[in-house]
Amino acid sequence: MIIRSVPPEERPTVSLPIQQYAFSATPGPSFPYDARYHRDNAVLAAYDGDRVLACATRIPMTQNVRGGILRMAAVAGVAAVPDARRGGHVRALLDRQLADAAAEGFAVSTLYPFRTSFYERFGYVSFPEPARVSIDPASLAPLLRADLPGEVTWHPVADAYDDLRDLHARLQRTTHGVALRPDYSAEWVRDGNESWAAVARVAGEVVGALLYRITGHHGELSGGPLLAVDPTARALLLSFLARHVDQVDAVTLTPHPDERPELWSTDIAVTGTVRSTPTDVFAPMARVLSVPALAGIGVGAGDVTVAVDDPLTGGTWRLGSDGGALVVRPSDAEPEATLTGHGLSALVYGVLDPAELAVRGFAPSLPADVADRLRTLFPKATPWLVENF
Ligand SMILES: CC(C)(COP(=O)(O)OP(=O)(O)OC[C@H]1O[C@@H](n2cnc3c(N)ncnc32)[C@H](O)[C@@H]1OP(=O)(O)O)[C@@H](O)C(=O)NCCC(=O)NCCS
Repeated sequence: MIIRSVPPEERPTVSLPIQQYAFSATPGPSFPYDARYHRDNAVLAAYDGDRVLACATRIPMTQNVRGGILRMAAVAGVAAVPDARRGGHVRALLDRQLADAAAEGFAVSTLYPFRTSFYERFGYVSFPEPARVSIDPASLAPLLRADLPGEVTWHPVADAYDDLRDLHARLQRTTHGVALRPDYSAEWVRDGNESWAAVARVAGEVVGALLYRITGHHGELSGGPLLAVDPTARALLLSFLARHVDQVDAVTLTPHPDERPELWSTDIAVTGTVRSTPTDVFAPMARVLSVPALAGIGVGAGDVTVAVDDPLTGGTWRLGSDGGALVVRPSDAEPEATLTGHGLSALVYGVLDPAELAVRGFAPSLPADVADRLRTLFPKATPWLVENF
């Protein structure tokens, strides 16, 4: 087996047929492929002679990690032809993609897993899953009487595209975990124009947005991530949704995982669903690719020397705080604790408390006093990826 980079002009015949077989109804019409939206993706394929056995794609994005905007490698399109599965080809491709990404200066990587145990082998840890929330629009009526500043307008997504990108970038600057694709990759949303966009403004400034579709009369208003800079922006969007009371039976959307929708309005009728099975997973996973590239992200106080056991982030590191900014140094000192790559990633993203690392097998050695100091340096946080890929 050899691994080759697949240039854009070869993707329709090399990687796309495998992805189509793996991810869609098949046989069926070919995936639409427009090279404009995939320009800087890195696609690798595993070959046996001329035969393509497996492929994996890396999409360059950025991500807010504890306030720092870092380069993020989004991994997607991971698939092997059926007779070559369990042959180690995907292992080789992913190892290469992650090593290439680290060498190119990407600090972190995320993906949407089909099964968490598969990607745990590659050092990824799970994010909390944002609940899918279903609301009875009649129960939002009180918000129509609320004295809210600002207004909501609705548009075909193509007409609101620039405002949506600006808002997404603004939220990325302030919200842990939020990823953003490059413009060329995001433009398919505008060009496809398959959603409505509700846009909330206060004093002319865009403060919130929701992309949605309506399935039919007395059907569902199905929204995406609820993007809102503050509770006023969120309430403006909910009051817009309330106006659909005689049109749809349910409004569904995905708020930030820290949100408590049951507190959004008195007598609100809302159900939140988090569903995860071994083969039906909705939460993304993430991993650190480079420890030095984390320098400067926002942390608490103190410092700790940890040994990390991981092919990419392995070594002994002194992790400290300089006025709340992470300082990273390779160290020759005796480590105070040992972490797997997952353990390090879980702390950096704030998704697991240090006490949970031992339970999950991500910290073979973590004394209680060191766990306390790691908890102070990496306080718990809730990442929200927002980008879907
Ligand atoms: C998922 C898929 C890509 C795996 O490919 P594969 O060729 O079987 O992978 P490999 O043989 O390289 O195995 C890689 C590692 O994962 C393990 N593994 C394979 N399938 C697994 C599974 N279903 N669950 C957990 N681990 C698994 C292997 O044992 C191997 O472990 P190791 O390298 O640590 O020893 C392949 O089954 C496929 O194309 N499925 C359909 C498309 C799909 O679901 N893609 C994933 C999208 S997120």
